[in-house]
Amino acid sequence: MKVLGISGSLRKQSYNTALLTVARGLAPAGMAFSEADLSAIPPYNEDVYAEGFPDAVATFREQIATADGLLIASPEYNYGMSGVIKNAVDWASRPPDQPFDGKPVAMLGASAGKLGTALAQNQLRQVLVGLNARIVSRPQVFISGAGQIFDENGGLLDDAAKGLIGQLLVSLQDMIAG
Ligand SMILES: Cc1cc2nc3c(=O)[nH]c(=O)nc-3n(C[C@H](O)[C@H](O)[C@H](O)COP(=O)(O)O)c2cc1C
Repeated sequence: MKVLGISGSLRKQSYNTALLTVARGLAPAGMAFSEADLSAIPPYNEDVYAEGFPDAVATFREQIATADGLLIASPEYNYGMSGVIKNAVDWASRPPDQPFDGKPVAMLGASAGKLGTALAQNQLRQVLVGLNARIVSRPQVFISGAGQIFDENGGLLDDAAKGLIGQLLVSLQDMIAG
């Protein structure tokens, strides 16, 4: 079972990218992880699309298409998902063969504020529903106060949060298998 991790943050010390690493360590038996790199995806431009998908977009679309499920961790920027993840989803969604169609997707996130990316995830869910992805709805993983619960190596210090991430992966596994 192949799961593609997608982080909506490009910074090296990203808490959200760190969550994908934590998830990799908690993955149930039989679940293999790879990670997308969104850093080379340009801002969406219909004129560029008319000439074909840029290489980084073509790679991302192929990674989505060949994954059994997706695990998306987006930062919350100004009460919404990051522009990086929205831009990547917009590019990947263009015809032909829209790769989110029917794809199992789990999401999680960490933010500095108290809502732990709840608002960003709500927005991302709405966008993915529009693309007919199948969204894992429980458990919800909203990690707040991120500055306090990661160590300097990106390790997650909160056992309850780790437990939720493990459950989220089992729910994703069940959706893929089901
Ligand atoms: C432009 C911008 C807007 C932000 N808006 C929010 C916000 O609405 N809610 C929140 O909890 N944190 C907000 N933050 C703080 C982020 O949660 C914090 O920078 C977080 O570490 C970003 O995720 P990352 O560590 O994966 O890069 C914002 C940060 C930036 C740069």
